[in-house]
Amino acid sequence: MTPTIKTVRCALSVPTVVDISDAINNTIDNKFTYLICPLFHPRFKREHIAGGLKHQELPMSRSDLDLNAECWQNYVVGHLSKFYNCDSEDEMTRKNAIIGLSEELRFVAHLNLTNFVIPIRNGNIENLARTLNNNLMNKLALYNILIRVPMHMDRLNIEIENFPARPKCDTPWNWWQKMRTLCEESTRLGLALELTNDLPEDEEEIHRWFAEPVRMVIIPTSLFLTNKSGFPVLSKAHQKFINKFLSLDIDFVIEGANRHSEKGMSKYFEYLNFLYKNYQLSNNTTNTYKFTKGYEDCLQNPLQPLMDNLESQVYEVFEKDPIKYAQYKKAVAEALCDRVSDEEKTSKETVIMVVGAGRGPLVKAAMQAAADTERKVKLFAIEKNPNAINTLLNLKHSLWGDKVTIIAKDMRDWYPTEKADILVSELLGSIGDNELSPECLDGAQRLLKDDGISIPYRYRSFIAPVQSYKIYSEVKRCKDYEHPHEAPYVVLLNNHCRIDDEKFLFEFTHPNRAEKIDNNRYGKLDFQAKFDATLHGFGGYFDSHLYKDVDISITPSTHSPDMISWFPMFFPLKNPINIKKNDTITVHFWRCVSSKQVWYEWCVTSPSNSVIHNPNGRTYWIGLH
Ligand SMILES: C[S@@+](CC[C@H](N)C(=O)[O-])C[C@H]1O[C@@H](n2cnc3c(N)ncnc32)[C@H](O)[C@@H]1O
Repeated sequence: MTPTIKTVRCALSVPTVVDISDAINNTIDNKFTYLICPLFHPRFKREHIAGGLKHQELPMSRSDLDLNAECWQNYVVGHLSKFYNCDSEDEMTRKNAIIGLSEELRFVAHLNLTNFVIPIRNGNIENLARTLNNNLMNKLALYNILIRVPMHMDRLNIEIENFPARPKCDTPWNWWQKMRTLCEESTRLGLALELTNDLPEDEEEIHRWFAEPVRMVIIPTSLFLTNKSGFPVLSKAHQKFINKFLSLDIDFVIEGANRHSEKGMSKYFEYLNFLYKNYQLSNNTTNTYKFTKGYEDCLQNPLQPLMDNLESQVYEVFEKDPIKYAQYKKAVAEALCDRVSDEEKTSKETVIMVVGAGRGPLVKAAMQAAADTERKVKLFAIEKNPNAINTLLNLKHSLWGDKVTIIAKDMRDWYPTEKADILVSELLGSIGDNELSPECLDGAQRLLKDDGISIPYRYRSFIAPVQSYKIYSEVKRCKDYEHPHEAPYVVLLNNHCRIDDEKFLFEFTHPNRAEKIDNNRYGKLDFQAKFDATLHGFGGYFDSHLYKDVDISITPSTHSPDMISWFPMFFPLKNPINIKKNDTITVHFWRCVSSKQVWYEWCVTSPSNSVIHNPNGRTYWIGLH
């Protein structure tokens, strides 16, 4: 099936509007999705404090009757008038601006607009933040506030009335970080990021913007070059940047005078649409895209395949993975060849037990490995989910016959007369051990001969400090738990960045011949921040070594290409922690085991202390029975 190609959402931003109806018609005629404009005209600039009566007898803005409600909502995004500076040194200017801003915000709510853009040009934003925060607390107003910042310093030479010179040590990202911290990381705050002529030299600084709730990227027409045919195009560096943002499904905004007047404004839209189309053609056809599109940044509660019975649909998703079963087949084939030489292959039989067989894909992989290597095998499929047993029995009767014996039992409770040469399992969660593979396999290892092989023989968890305002907001909104920030979530991390590379946390090996097996773990890790950031939580990943060097991984630096069975895990923090470049981030993780359940606890102790999350597994735990 050919993928649907979507049209880019691209708005037109104008400094003033004479007739709003005409302006919208012009916007649509030029193919733009909506119009961004100031709601108040500079001519109606009102003095609320000094000279109180100036303009007071005039309407504060155009009439809401100029458009119908649907049109206001769908085709207009408001932009704060340029003349307000809520943090001016001058008291009158400041007071006047605060009243003016509140007036504009009330009008935005009256018009029921979805978004309102407010520019900031330096880090002096305390009064602005307070005014916005008070308005954001109003649960009746639904609009989002988009804080407009240049993505890099070079735009700061643009003069905005009444704004004082910027402090040198600040960057636009720091101003934005300050704003969202002061506004308690409100989920109604977003970013309107202004593309600048110069891009940050540091790739990681660019990357940090991808961890922010960027709703629109504003592209000044002055950034466009002219190609041989006279059409507007962006430089390679800008194109690369735009391409990265295309995966976030955001809006683009064209702003400024038409510098290609003979071609018309619509050419700017067409150029961006061309980039979007190419992006979709090169990405939307990949296997990974097919299976993962729509899951980006959506929180899912981790599965509990031991305590719960998985549903058919869940098995179906696993079974679509093109990589996992191929790797298992390879691992079993290599193990078979190591166990049975070519000379013995017609005489010697290998016993393979697939524990946690689900609907049978690993049984099939093992059979295929036996066929490929021409080894004789005797197969057992052990599964505790009665519905999956039904599938396995159907397969036995229709396909496998005597080649496979089906055992409807918990692997920890089955006592067969013969033992396995190879024990195959896939009981792994997003950080490896979180679906209780260690406890299940420890309980089942007596099924394995003393010299038997466990596939996998090892799995390891990794974590990385993560900034993601989006995921943090989703956690905040989550109603599943009393303390939603104390539960880990399975999530395809998209709108995020890693503040440092991932590091190894816990390891489990099988068979575990220790005299007394202890699956409790404690790990303390030090990360070093690569840039100023906000720590919202930790990404969790795993790798699993199946046999010798055959492995699978969802760890960022070694991810098995195209493997889609697992998304990472996200361990949130109750309160985000602001981090400076080169700060040491110290995190402590515990894996705790009781007779009934397993859970994780975690906390940060540097650069500042967090609470210990999930004490005694009060919010999240994994049942052992
Ligand atoms: C992650 S699924 C994998 C299923 C299948 N092997 C696959 O790759 O598609 C894990 C399976 O192990 C089963 N399982 C988990 N713990 C088990 C236990 N203690 N004994 C038997 N089966 C178990 C679950 O019911 C589930 O079917």
